[in-house]
Amino acid sequence: MAHFINGDFFSETEAKISIDDLSILRGFGIFDYFRTYNRKPFLLNDYLKRFQNSASIVGLSIPLNSTELSSVIDQLISQSPNDECGIRMILTGGNSFDAFTPEKPNLIIRTEKFQLPLEKDYSEGVIVISYEYQRDLPEAKLLNYSSAIIHNSRNLDKKASEILYHFRGKITEASRSNFFVIQGERLITPEKHILKGITRQTVLTMAQKDFAIEKENFPMHLLSDVDEVFITSTTKGIMPVIKIDDQIIGNGKVGKATRHLMELYKNFTDKTHL
Ligand code: PDD
Repeated sequence: MAHFINGDFFSETEAKISIDDLSILRGFGIFDYFRTYNRKPFLLNDYLKRFQNSASIVGLSIPLNSTELSSVIDQLISQSPNDECGIRMILTGGNSFDAFTPEKPNLIIRTEKFQLPLEKDYSEGVIVISYEYQRDLPEAKLLNYSSAIIHNSRNLDKKASEILYHFRGKITEASRSNFFVIQGERLITPEKHILKGITRQTVLTMAQKDFAIEKENFPMHLLSDVDEVFITSTTKGIMPVIKIDDQIIGNGKVGKATRHLMELYKNFTDKTHL
């Protein structure tokens, strides 16, 4: 797979960054991740805006403008051997002279083989486990996912596909996705202390005509009262959740409203780039 680093293209074996980079020394940097549908970048402008927003939150500046980024991305996609791919844009803290002070950032963009979730996860729903945690600078997509990675590897045997973060009794988001609850006609999703997911925004726009939308950080103790739960992300799309810890959600099956939204989302992604 081709890699773009600071203005040049490299093969996977040639692609290198310095050992002095703050992303290695301190885990300092940001990234964003999106995918193609029909070999075209999906909602590119939205992802570029979020990448820009993450950069400004941490005080880094992206050396290319949106048109230049878009042109690099098109070139990388055209070189990708896979029908569909993921695209990762990384902006690091740069090669630091004292292992602490940020320098000129390194920009890396690459395509990745796209791993689709199992069909069974959509038809049967998934299990998530909760964990009390608040991500640092939640509106920025920071490189550091240590907590998610550690917690995930500790819980592999529990068959959970995501970790649901809550803080002071309220749900914020999952480790790599956003969280939604359906209660009758109400569609509720957390709004504060989260990464504003592009999939979340797409779902909110699509759902407007069928649901009363409420943006609030849902209390953990009310999970026993909800009809349906799902999580959303670039890689998962809309993924139904049937159990959180020991709490079965609704009747423990993928709900009608979630199926309806999954159908709308599929129609949207199918149509977007034709
Ligand atoms: N995760 N919240 C967090 C903390 C995330 O890392 C992500 C994305 C989301 C969902 O955002 P979006 O719908 O824009 O993908 C919410 C990506 C997919 C990942 O790290 O793998």
